[in-house]
Amino acid sequence: MPLHISRARFRHSHNICTGIVEAFACHPWFEELSFAEAATRWVETTRRRGFHCLVATQDHRLVGAIWWDSPAISELKNERGTALAAFAVRHLERNTTLVWIRDLIVLPDRQGQGIGHQLRQKMIEHCVSKNSVLFLTRIRNDNTSMIRMNHAMGFLRSGITVPCSLKPDVLHEYWYLLKGAFE
Ligand SMILES: CC(C)(COP(=O)(O)OP(=O)(O)OC[C@H]1O[C@@H](n2cnc3c(N)ncnc32)[C@H](O)[C@@H]1OP(=O)(O)O)[C@@H](O)C(=O)NCCC(=O)NCCS
Repeated sequence: MPLHISRARFRHSHNICTGIVEAFACHPWFEELSFAEAATRWVETTRRRGFHCLVATQDHRLVGAIWWDSPAISELKNERGTALAAFAVRHLERNTTLVWIRDLIVLPDRQGQGIGHQLRQKMIEHCVSKNSVLFLTRIRNDNTSMIRMNHAMGFLRSGITVPCSLKPDVLHEYWYLLKGAFE
């Protein structure tokens, strides 16, 4: 079935929140999020500086979404700590934008079909059309498909980890990709 990727509109909000509930109910999260909790999370996210979202639809059904924002170094430091902020400063060159890839979701019955990969690829193309970009993201070390996707797209491990709040024996690691506009 053909996949259509486009900018999210306000009318997509309800289906994105349903998607958050469904995607995070499966491996490796197994979160029991209510729709209201997902909606609160979503609304907070949309208020972030430089927020953007792309949605993937198949036959008019929303099957996936990716969203990102562009925090200032001070915001990154407050949210993620000194080590990651210092890492970003070391890697930010002149005319380079910082992009935080906040989330990527694909509905459980559409996972494993390359939709997540295509959404991520479109996001990268969108962001590097004008500027060079330092992409940062955080991945759970047991999120096999995200780790495979990161390797396939050239993302690298920063070496900076934090324990997972839901499962303290599992680590989250920050990954990065520095991509030039004119490569
Ligand atoms: C993570 C997620 C977005 C991936 O989306 P997807 O459309 O299933 O991913 P793709 O089909 O594009 O596959 C990406 C890679 O993962 C691999 N993969 C897919 N499903 C897999 C599985 N069940 N086990 C292992 N690897 C898997 C694919 O082979 C592919 O690797 P490759 O590029 O080396 O071939 C989706 O599983 C999801 O919504 N998960 C819950 C929410 C989540 O964890 N989001 C990310 C938060 S950081």
